[in-house]
Amino acid sequence: MSLDDEKRLAAEAAAELVESGMTLGLGTGSTVAHLLPAVARRGLTELRCVATSPATEAQARALGITVEPFDALTRLDLAIDGTDEVTPDGWLIKGGGGAHLREKIVAAAADRFVVIADSTKPVPQFTWPVPLELFAFGLASTLARLGDDVALRPDTPPSPDGGLIADYRGPGLDDPAALAARLESDPGVAAQGLFPPSLVSDLFVARGAEVEHTRFS
Ligand code: 5RP
Repeated sequence: MSLDDEKRLAAEAAAELVESGMTLGLGTGSTVAHLLPAVARRGLTELRCVATSPATEAQARALGITVEPFDALTRLDLAIDGTDEVTPDGWLIKGGGGAHLREKIVAAAADRFVVIADSTKPVPQFTWPVPLELFAFGLASTLARLGDDVALRPDTPPSPDGGLIADYRGPGLDDPAALAARLESDPGVAAQGLFPPSLVSDLFVARGAEVEHTRFS
C-alpha cells in the first residue's frame, strides 16, 4: 500500500463524520485532496464549507462542493485537515503547504477538529522546521529580530492574506508550548505552525490498510 493510499484511507474515514446541514472547514494538502472527493461522494445536502486555501477552494468547487467566504460564519461544526507531524500527546506541526494561518483560524472555529494522516506523520518528537507566516509590513526588521534560525521559504509566493512564508529551524522543538509562545510573541509573526493538543479532537492515521482512530476530546 502506497503513502497516497494511506492518505486516501484516512481521508475517507474522516469523511464519514460529515453530515448533511453541517458547517465544515476544509484543510489543505495532498491528504485533503483525497478528502474532497470522499465528501462529494457522500451526496450530503446543505453543507456549508469554508476552505483554507485557494487550491482547496478550486478543487472543492470543481467537485460540486459549495464553498463560501469565511466571514459570516461564527463557528464550524467540523474541520478536517492534514498535518506534517503529530506527536503522541497531540501536538501538530502544520504549514508544509504554507496555509497554516488560515488552517489555524479554521481549526480554532471548529467544534471538532479532525486530523488525517498517513503512517509517516506520527513521530516521537518533532523533526520538521516550524512554518511561519510573517507580516509583509516591517519584514526586514522582523527577520532581523528572529535571527539566523528563521529564513524565508525559497520560491514560495505570499499567502492569500499577503504574508510571507518562512521556516524556523532552531532549538526548542522538545518544548512546543514554550517555542510556540516565543514565536508568537514577536509582533511580526502572523502565525506559527505549532498547533496545540487542545485544538485537536480526533486523529485518523492510516497504517497500510488499517485506519487507527484516536479521540482526544
Ligand atoms: C498545509 C498543511 C498540510 O496539512 C500539511 O502540510 C500536510 O500536507 P499533506 O497532506 O500534503 O502531507 O499544513 O499548510
